[in-house]
Order: sequence, then C-alpha cells, then structure tokens
Amino acid sequence: MTSDRTPPASTRSDWTPSSWKGHPARQQVEYDDPAELEAALAKLARLPPIVTSWEVEKLKTQLAEAGRGERFLLQGGDCNERFADCQSHRIDAKLKVLLMMSAVLVYGSGRRVVRVGRIAGQYAKPRSAATETRGDVTLPAYRGDLVNRSEFTPAGRRPDPNNLLEAYSRSAMTINFIRSLLSGGFGDMHHPDIWDLSWVEKANEPDEYRALVESMKASVRFLDAMVGRPLNELAGVEFYTSHEGLHLDYEQAATERPPLREGYYDLSTHLPWIGERTRDIGGAHVEFFRGIRNPIGVKVGPGMEPAELLALLDVLNPGEEPGRITLIVRMGAKNVSQRLPALVEAVRRAERVVTWVSDPMHGNTYQTADGTKTRRFDDILQEVDQSFAVHADAGSVLGGVHFELTGENVTEIVGGSCGLTEADLGEAYESDVDPRLNRAQALEMAFLIARRLKDPRFRPRT
Ligand code: PEP
Ligand code: CO
Repeated sequence: MTSDRTPPASTRSDWTPSSWKGHPARQQVEYDDPAELEAALAKLARLPPIVTSWEVEKLKTQLAEAGRGERFLLQGGDCNERFADCQSHRIDAKLKVLLMMSAVLVYGSGRRVVRVGRIAGQYAKPRSAATETRGDVTLPAYRGDLVNRSEFTPAGRRPDPNNLLEAYSRSAMTINFIRSLLSGGFGDMHHPDIWDLSWVEKANEPDEYRALVESMKASVRFLDAMVGRPLNELAGVEFYTSHEGLHLDYEQAATERPPLREGYYDLSTHLPWIGERTRDIGGAHVEFFRGIRNPIGVKVGPGMEPAELLALLDVLNPGEEPGRITLIVRMGAKNVSQRLPALVEAVRRAERVVTWVSDPMHGNTYQTADGTKTRRFDDILQEVDQSFAVHADAGSVLGGVHFELTGENVTEIVGGSCGLTEADLGEAYESDVDPRLNRAQALEMAFLIARRLKDPRFRPRT
C-alpha cells in the first residue's frame, strides 16, 4: 500500500479556495446582481463555522473504519431540505428515525455505526434543465432553497443571494438543535419512541422484528445492570452532517484554514459530496474538492468507467489518505451487478483506499402514469442486496448505505410493509424533488439490512 505519495492538494501552491473559478462549472446559478451576490458572500465568509475541523477529522477516521468493515455508515435524510422544514418536530423526527435505524444496525451487525444526516445544509439541488415551462410560461428551474423558491412565479424563481445567508443560518439552527437533543439524552435507549413498533403489524415477518426488539430491550436492561446506571447517562451519541457541495461560491465562503491545522476545511458541513452531474475531472467541483481536507463523497453512476474512477481518485486523494474518499454508488437495481464489479476490481488492483457505500435511491427513480416521481421499496432493497453480493464476491467491503428518508409519514415511495401503492402517493406527497422513504419504510429497511449484515453469505470472500 502506498502512503503519502503526494502531499494533499491544499498544501500545494496550485490550489486556492477560489482556483475552481478557472474551471468550467456545471449547475452554477446566474444571479442578476453580481454586487448583491458579492455582498452576501462577504457576510457569509465572516460568520463562524457550522462544524469544526476536529469533528471533520474524527469523521474521516470513522469513515476509514467503515471502509475496512469495522464500522457501517448510515447516511440519510431529505433529498432537498427546505427552509420551512427547519422546525423542531421535523428535525426531531428525522433524528429519531436515523437513531432508531442505527440502533437496529448496531444490534443486528455487531458493528459500530457512523451516523451522517443529509441535514443542516442540504439546500442545493442539481437540475436536468436550467428552466421549467408550464403552459406558455418559462421560468428558471427550482434549484433548492439555497438558491430560489419552488413557487412557480418570477419572484419565487429568482435566484436570491440572501438565501445563502438564510441557508447558513438555518443550517446552524438545525445543528444547534441536534447537538442539544443529543447532549440531553435524546439517544436514550429507554425512550419509548425508540421501541415504537406499530409499523411491524403489517410486516411479512412481524414476529421476527418483535423478537429482535425484545432482545435489544433485554440487552439495554443487561447493560444498565452491568454499568450500574441507566445507559442514557453514557457518552453522547455522535452524529455528523453532509450535503452536496454544489454551489461553489457558498462552499468557498465557508472554507477556511483553522488555527493549528495544515490546509483548508469546508466548515459548512462534515462530509460534502460531489454529485453525479458535477464529477467531471476537469470541472470546477473536482478542482474545489481536491483542495479541502474534509472527507468527501463522490456519487458514482452507471456511466462511470474504471479508468475514469482511478483518474478521479488520483486527483482527489493523491496521498491515499484513508477515510478521505467515500464512493457513493447509485447505479440502479438493474445495473449494479453488471457495472459495479469492474470498478471494485479496478480499485482493488490499484490498491486504492476508498469507502464503498450504496445509494440505492438515485438509480431507481421512475414516474407513474400521472407523472409522479417515485421509487419501489423492492428495487431499493435489491440494489442494496446486489451491492453486498458484488463486494462479497470481490473480497471487498460494502461500508455503508445512503438513503433519502424522512421521519414523517409521507407517501412518496411504493411498497414496504405499509403496502403503499401508486394510487396512494397523492395522500401525503411532500417532496419538491426526489421521493423519500417514510418512517415505517426506513425502519423496515434498517431491519432488512441488519439481517444481511449478519448473514455470512454477505461477508467478504477473500
Ligand atoms: C442527490 O443525492 O439528491 C442527488 C441529486 O444525487 P445524484 O448526484 O447521485 O444524482
Ligand atoms: Co435526491
């Protein structure tokens, strides 16, 4: 294994937080008043960071462990966080579902879990078209609350630089509330909500789920007795944030060189990722990301070729730093067993250090006859299954999963034990962009994945 072959880009003289500006940037926003944008960015750059470099480095270490199979990454949250969702009960519900899922995964797999939300900054969306037409009206596409509003009016769709400040503030409020909840015993394993099993009634194998929960409860009682005090008094549960680093002016404004550190950190989030539409090697996003010291995610779609992936790893992680790169594979259930093996093999042969993760959401989106965007629970599960199988066959490790989910009882994805059909989607469809697993579907998915993590067939065959 090579190490420290090349120093990180941020310590080299050819990278600066703004060197991306010399590269073609996809998905960037056209503001009508450059001076207003500059003023907002200048204000942003003076604000304190949302996360710290210590937390960022700690997450990097934990992602490296996930890459080796010593931990499992659970990354999840909204496709598109909205300003209106910055409310206590929504944050609380999202955090709760992620903690419940992680408890199930820890118990089922015996591995520690790294919890990362798509939260506290997931406000920018890549779009397939720059404009949207309804009837004879054409307006700029909605690009997430970081940029404009979904409301189909000229004022709503106008990119507004003040949204950058609003997004930063709401991200800070969100993470502040999350930190308070977690330090106040929110991760308490005695909380009745943790054990709410109402969704199990309709499951195919309710007894199995009930038995698992009973044995989890028994373990908590056992540990309480062993430690001599309730588990909720133990050290707080760790939780990290992530978002797509799409809007480079915004990410740059949050990038700084912390005291006593070498190099620059994007302190708007712990784990920024490069989306499938912006990962071109000569592009501005790759240029920006190569220089920051954060762990970074890279979405990997079915079009990725092995040589391209290795070239990308050369640029983004020349020093072979473990935990630096999380490859978030989103191929679709139909493609993964054909397309993933060559990538896994190329990475293994080149002895590159990466953390492989499955995003079984973004390759499985389809539209119903009436044009509603949805995904099938079974396709999602199948992509996870096939990813486990590909890695097991290759002697490699699937280090985690990435979901779009919510703590609310929405009707955006069909299937699961709750039995949602396409006809039910209209009942509580809230997402402006991609469909999310609801609370029951997310918990069911966690149980199904925990079962696979225990299954010797899914262990790497080396
Ligand atoms: C997303 O994660 O919401 C997204 C747009 O993903 P991708 O870049 O993989 O399409
Ligand atoms: Co999405």
